[in-house]
Amino acid sequence: MRNKKKILITGGTGFIGSAIIRQLLKKNISLLNLDCLSYASNKKNLFDVEKRKGYKFLKVDISNKKKLQKVFNLFKPDYVINCAAETHVDRSILNAKKFIKSNIIGTYNLLECTREYLIKNKKFKRFHQISTDEVFGDLYKVAKPPNENSAYLPSSPYSASKASSDHLVTSWGRTYKIPYSISICTNNYGPHQFPEKLIPKTIINAMKGKKIPIYGDGKQIRDWLFVEDHARAIQKIIFSRKTKNNKFNISGNNQIYNFNLVNMICDYLNKKIKFNKSKNFKFQNLIKFVKDRPGHDRKYILNSNKIRRQLNWKPNYNINKGIERTIDWYLENLTWWDNKKS
Ligand SMILES: NC(=O)c1ccc[n+]([C@@H]2O[C@H](COP(=O)([O-])OP(=O)(O)OC[C@H]3O[C@@H](n4cnc5c(N)ncnc54)[C@H](O)[C@@H]3O)[C@@H](O)[C@H]2O)c1
Repeated sequence: MRNKKKILITGGTGFIGSAIIRQLLKKNISLLNLDCLSYASNKKNLFDVEKRKGYKFLKVDISNKKKLQKVFNLFKPDYVINCAAETHVDRSILNAKKFIKSNIIGTYNLLECTREYLIKNKKFKRFHQISTDEVFGDLYKVAKPPNENSAYLPSSPYSASKASSDHLVTSWGRTYKIPYSISICTNNYGPHQFPEKLIPKTIINAMKGKKIPIYGDGKQIRDWLFVEDHARAIQKIIFSRKTKNNKFNISGNNQIYNFNLVNMICDYLNKKIKFNKSKNFKFQNLIKFVKDRPGHDRKYILNSNKIRRQLNWKPNYNINKGIERTIDWYLENLTWWDNKKS
């Protein structure tokens, strides 16, 4: 009988990691989730799957190499998916130290553990790094969307830490022959996202009757990827042999100004919420333009032709369908987010 695939995923209690876990656990695999349970994580993200056979969780900070070494020796993974990271740009501007520790040192530790482990476990299949379109920097004046060979030009401490960790992965791959892949995705959205990010913050502030802040003039362009489409793409990449030592851009092909996105959320809430509203009230009344974030990039987009052509992946969700599903989820899961501090 073939042995089950053994997958070690980091940051699996966060937004994207938990979506990947929910999909992976539909397969007959053995999965270990390592997460330090930072403020952005939520154990409730995995309530529906945590009792499944094949799933294990350990509270581990990836900046602790000794603990990681123990985990590698005991669990003996075939695959590593690195999702763990400090992820909020605003927090990185206020204090970058944690971003350096989790995103750079953490990735370095995982790569070093993989390198040591590979010496005895030649069948190790893949180290997969989850990256971000922010590594390419501001694309406001750039004619073409970046492809997988475009140069990195990060603007914020967050994106610089992610760019650094990608460079570590490619160099460890080349120097120590670690089989790796990197996926670079656009902004994710969907259920289970911590309420400090634009979409859940807008929904939750609207529900609470609080101001909905929009940075600057709101004309920043982002491309939005539904989190389940992203999780499907990750599986396509890691389980294909032809993706070894390759990068793949993943975009949702949903480019929209932040201001228009917030308007779209308000429009759906106007239709959906009937209670407690005066006749002339619209959720748009809550919008408040606030001072822009320092160094705020105007535009991120990606060329994701490679994954579409080579792996036959495409997103199932357009922004309208995805936003409605996301808003419905937040409205139905008040207890998930109600006790979370923003
Ligand atoms: N959310 C997006 O729009 C987006 C877009 C592009 C790329 N990404 C990348 O995807 C990955 C996942 O992002 P997310 O949105 O799910 O983030 P998230 O903030 O929701 O979750 C991150 C998870 O990592 C864990 N973590 C953080 N530091 C850790 C450490 N030192 N050791 C162990 N666990 C740690 C946290 O506890 C949390 O559970 C990140 O690498 C992020 O850079 C996210």
